[in-house]
Amino acid sequence: MELPYAEPYKIKMVETIKRSTVAQRKQWIKEANYNLFNLSSDKVYIDLLTDSGTGAMSDKQWGALMEGDESYAGSQSFLKLKSTVQKITGFEYFLPTHQGRAAENVLFSVLVKEGDIVPGNSHFDTTKGHIEFRKAKAVDCTINEAFDTEDMHPFKGNIDLDKLKKVFSENPIEKIPFVIITVTNNSSGGQPVSMENIKAVSEFCKSNKVPIIFDSARFAENAYFVKIREEGYQDKTIKEIAKEMFSYGEGMTMSSKKDGLVNMGGFIALRDEEIFKKATVFNIMYEGFITYGGMSGRDMAALAVGLNEATEYEYLESRIRQVVHLGYKLIEFGVPVQHPIGGHAIFIDANKFVPTIPRDEYRAQALAIELYIIGGIRGVEIGTVLADRDPFTRKNRYPELELVRLAIPRRTYTHNHMEYIAAALKNIFDSRSEAKSGYRIIDEAPIMRHFTVKFEKI
Ligand code: F0G
Repeated sequence: MELPYAEPYKIKMVETIKRSTVAQRKQWIKEANYNLFNLSSDKVYIDLLTDSGTGAMSDKQWGALMEGDESYAGSQSFLKLKSTVQKITGFEYFLPTHQGRAAENVLFSVLVKEGDIVPGNSHFDTTKGHIEFRKAKAVDCTINEAFDTEDMHPFKGNIDLDKLKKVFSENPIEKIPFVIITVTNNSSGGQPVSMENIKAVSEFCKSNKVPIIFDSARFAENAYFVKIREEGYQDKTIKEIAKEMFSYGEGMTMSSKKDGLVNMGGFIALRDEEIFKKATVFNIMYEGFITYGGMSGRDMAALAVGLNEATEYEYLESRIRQVVHLGYKLIEFGVPVQHPIGGHAIFIDANKFVPTIPRDEYRAQALAIELYIIGGIRGVEIGTVLADRDPFTRKNRYPELELVRLAIPRRTYTHNHMEYIAAALKNIFDSRSEAKSGYRIIDEAPIMRHFTVKFEKI
């Protein structure tokens, strides 16, 4: 008998999670005004709200924590982290920040000005926020295949070069400070960007003298997909692939809460000394002195170890196999999901799952609530609630896709948990025809409503 795949780690410490009953959860979600963000974590059995800062650190990382150097200036943990980042990315200049959006804030304070255009592949919310806050515009140039959940394109995170060229031809080059490539592309389903695409974008950008900045939150997962899916990379290590990828850019922002395998942290890495010098000033103002930037010494120490672990094939294989296992189980049950299965999350297609619930009754939110009630599982709506209202007409904006994201924290849940999630979804799917109505909003904030919005059941 062929031996099945099994994880390359064993568990040294466990954290109790609480089971509850359907009746209890019905009551709790009602008390939370049907907003999953309002639930206290002890009322959640399996928490798939995000894979950001929710993973498990290794014994080596916990060991490194004890050696953290908390010196305000010149911390040894900073120096260790800096040399790790230089080695993995090839970028010479390094600034720590307290998380990914802080890195965006600091770097964009240097690079983005009013009236600028920043093309990219489905900018993450905070990235877009930091661009728009500066009265600049983020233009999404993701390939169209990304918006068809059944399309099997292996690199649905790719940038459409024609769309990019159009942006360049319609705007003065000096208005385009950089192109941002998000690896993997979170908003389109944790979908990777191919090296071929990065190379092509880089050649085009070079010929226009416009730099590329990587939003690198899940860069190691992207490198894994390049290794297993792209011709010519099978024999390369993850670290070699990541380094080649970064060689096509001028810098990066990082949310260390993802592929840094830590609970908090971020950084900026750059090739250009002038940009670094300017960013240094903002870093000191917003984050902290340049040798800690909002991080404690112990967190920098754990991050240095985490970055090395996250760029090991063995780790990535187990990480992504777990996500894919859940995805395949759902496909087997007929549950409509974004194909191919991405790196950090499963995206359930609510338009196909519960077309019987009217769109203005927030069908993806209704599905996320049902998953909580049936299984105690917390996912997140990525649909009309998140898309918010048009700032002028105040009408709901209906995005192309109504999704529920189930983000899988790294090294945190077991194979059995995946089976449990799949079974809960199957049960909901099997009785989906009974779902006829959704929810009505009774209170909402003028922007970013999804965090605090209150609903009532229709
Ligand atoms: N870029 C990407 C692609 C992200 O997914 C995130 C965060 C950020 C930047 C911002 O980083 O949270 O450290 O400030 N994504 C989380 C998520 C919140 O749930 O997908 P941060």
